Amino acid sequence: MKKTILTGIRPTGSLHLGHFAGALENWVRLQNDYECFFLIADYQVSDYADDIDRVRDSVWQVALDWLAVGLDPQDNHFVIESLVPQHAELSVLLSWFMPLGRLQRNPTLKAEMADLETGKKGVPVGFFVYPLMQVANILLPRANLVPVGEDQLPHIEMTREMARRFNRDFADVFVEPDALVGRVPRLVGTDGQAKMGKSLNNAIFLKDDAATVTRKVMGMYTDPTRLRATDPGHVEGNPVFMYHDAFNPDVAEVNDLKERYVKGAVGDVEVKKKLAVALNHLLDPIRERRARFEANPSLVKEALEKGSNEERAVAEETMARVREALRLDYIARGMPAAAAP
Ligand code: TRP
Repeated sequence: MKKTILTGIRPTGSLHLGHFAGALENWVRLQNDYECFFLIADYQVSDYADDIDRVRDSVWQVALDWLAVGLDPQDNHFVIESLVPQHAELSVLLSWFMPLGRLQRNPTLKAEMADLETGKKGVPVGFFVYPLMQVANILLPRANLVPVGEDQLPHIEMTREMARRFNRDFADVFVEPDALVGRVPRLVGTDGQAKMGKSLNNAIFLKDDAATVTRKVMGMYTDPTRLRATDPGHVEGNPVFMYHDAFNPDVAEVNDLKERYVKGAVGDVEVKKKLAVALNHLLDPIRERRARFEANPSLVKEALEKGSNEERAVAEETMARVREALRLDYIARGMPAAAAP
């Protein structure tokens, strides 16, 4: 029996290199060793409620990106959260056991809520409870492992606590999952200022064509203290070299560039051109697969439909046990003697 993975993403845009190095790569690597549920978390887009068209489009973009990086929907499950409403049901039931203060102290949630406040959108209640929905997402198929980006670790810790508490107080229904963070936990954006993000204009998307990638790389933030190619440059903290380290498999080339860079013996243009070549080399097969699926939308649709149906069956098993553990099985138990006339 294979162990189970559940992991997911919110459908709020296309996926980029940060997603790839932070999580997706692990998903691809582990997908044959685990039974995987890859979740498109469309209940968790309350901060995009004014832009549902974007959400609708992103559901397909995310599915295409997944297929493009080589996730296999045959042996695994591509799931749309709202097609498995047990996610919502379990969220409500688990909310009984989630102390308000526990959510308020979640550092990732705190930071995201602060961003929403400054963005003047305010924080919908649905946003405040998304980590709880994520807890339900993970517990529902009784996942053993959750490969995610580093920022998600507080949510996984909440999941473990919830599983322990429920199992102790009611019945042994849930599995306490482990988290797994990717090779590059926090990829900086092309601007060198913030983490790569889909709305910050600092992302290289998996679906960007080669010319776009090259243009973005040539415009990348680099060592600001270096005015001429003959000035000694800084490799440390330089996003162009961070990307070389993360994505250029030719270690000898990278080391040579670094050596010459600190001596002032190579220009930024050459360093960037070589990075663009390496990135396009990485992305070419991803683009090819994406194009194949874009030309075959019915395959994407079938993957989402099949995976969601399959998860619904597992989810219903778990929910039957949860309802019984919480004694919500009123009809099956029948009227208690004391209530009878
Ligand atoms: N919150 C995650 C993110 O923003 C997406 C997500 C939703 C998720 N449900 C999940 C990740 C369950 C792992 C497991 O990236």
